[in-house]
Amino acid sequence: DLRTSIDGFKFDNVFMNASGVRCYTEQELDELVQSDAGTLVTKSATQAKRLGNPSPRYARLELGSINSMGLPNEGLDYYLNYALNFQKAHPDQPIFISVAGLSMEENLAMAHTIEDSDFNGLVEFNLSCPNVPGKPQTGYDFDRTQEVLTNLFSFFTKPAGVKLPPYFDLAQFDQMAAILNQFPLKFVNSINSLGNGLMIDPETDTVLIKPKGGFGGVGGAYAKPIALANVRAFAQRLNPQIQIIGTGGITNGRDAYDLILAGASLVQVGTLLQEEGPAVFTRLKRELAAVMQTKGYTQISDFKGQLKTL
Ligand code: DHB
Repeated sequence: DLRTSIDGFKFDNVFMNASGVRCYTEQELDELVQSDAGTLVTKSATQAKRLGNPSPRYARLELGSINSMGLPNEGLDYYLNYALNFQKAHPDQPIFISVAGLSMEENLAMAHTIEDSDFNGLVEFNLSCPNVPGKPQTGYDFDRTQEVLTNLFSFFTKPAGVKLPPYFDLAQFDQMAAILNQFPLKFVNSINSLGNGLMIDPETDTVLIKPKGGFGGVGGAYAKPIALANVRAFAQRLNPQIQIIGTGGITNGRDAYDLILAGASLVQVGTLLQEEGPAVFTRLKRELAAVMQTKGYTQISDFKGQLKTL
């Protein structure tokens, strides 16, 4: 039994895509719906459609990936329409919409659009896109994060959470958790990619992606210990009503198990889903169920957050 829930929203299993991966077009979203994923999130939306950065803008690495997509997306209305149609056909299968405005004003305008719509799923406010030149990640500016959330929750009443960048100092976890705990968030999603990494092709002495001189967000196995630390650190600091979505470093069912041990209620798959396609969810479900069986666990709550220390 891999079922889970967030704020009364029930999901058939703990697995979903990470936003950005295979969730750009209706066709990709439909393929996620058809897959064994427990739910899905749409590509981070801006108000208007965007083409994003020049290609190549994604590269596979030995242990993961690097990307600087630059927020290519079809615009909020496209994803909101998809979600409204989906919820009509599948009223018992809640999904997520991801929102990533390039300014606070754009985020608030999109939040108003969603608030005024019939959308009845969850909204992921992405405070951690590293790839738009000249636009720093909100999640690394604590005062700005406080300001965005204050303005947002002055009117926004639908179930919402935030997607955060990775933090690396325990004082950052203390400060960010103290901010997040002031708001009626339903979830916190950690982590987005390791921002602004760089890899070099040894044959040509060249960077691997074109935007920003080769700098881009790193995902995959490189992210696993950072993701675990961020999930664990927030699980230890956030109000218990705020559930955690664990993202980063999943290549097999044991990786998902580890994120859940650290405190995650749902887990998102990015690089691995990009590389293997939506059939990966079938394998991950089987592998997670096998780990649970070995441990004698029958449901997620048997081990969620039960990480042991020495
Ligand atoms: C993009 C990358 C991200 O990591 C993110 O959170 C949002 C957008 C992108 O480059 O498109």
